Amino acid sequence: MLLVASPVEAAGDRALGAYLAAECSACHQISGRSRGGIPPIIGWPEDQFVAVLDAYRSRQRDNPVMQAVAARLSRDEIAALAAYFGALTSKP
Ligand code: HEC
Repeated sequence: MLLVASPVEAAGDRALGAYLAAECSACHQISGRSRGGIPPIIGWPEDQFVAVLDAYRSRQRDNPVMQAVAARLSRDEIAALAAYFGALTSKP
């Protein structure tokens, strides 16, 4: 539990997100391009990113790969990934 919360820091731990993102970027391009039908996941509002991963976790979204990925993540890890990917922007 943090006693002092920095206002610029979002809920998720971005450094943890960067660490966890190695797995994701095996499939998802961090450049923001889609490759082989795999959608880009950068620059999303954090709440939407969390909601989508929750939907895979609860199997409301039907994709076996992402269901398996999301099932292994904790809430803190999902928040961290949302903070990390949300802060990335695509480069032309
Ligand atoms: C083995 C390949 C693979 C890995 C690894 C992977 N994904 Fe995905 N991801 C996909 C595919 C394929 C889809 C599209 C699924 C669908 O159509 O619902 C997807 C969809 C998504 C979406 C929804 C995108 C959209 O536009 O709706 C998000 C968000 C996402 N992945 C996040 C992640 C995160 C975060 C990680 C790492 C923890 C990760 N993915 C790891 C293949 C992968």
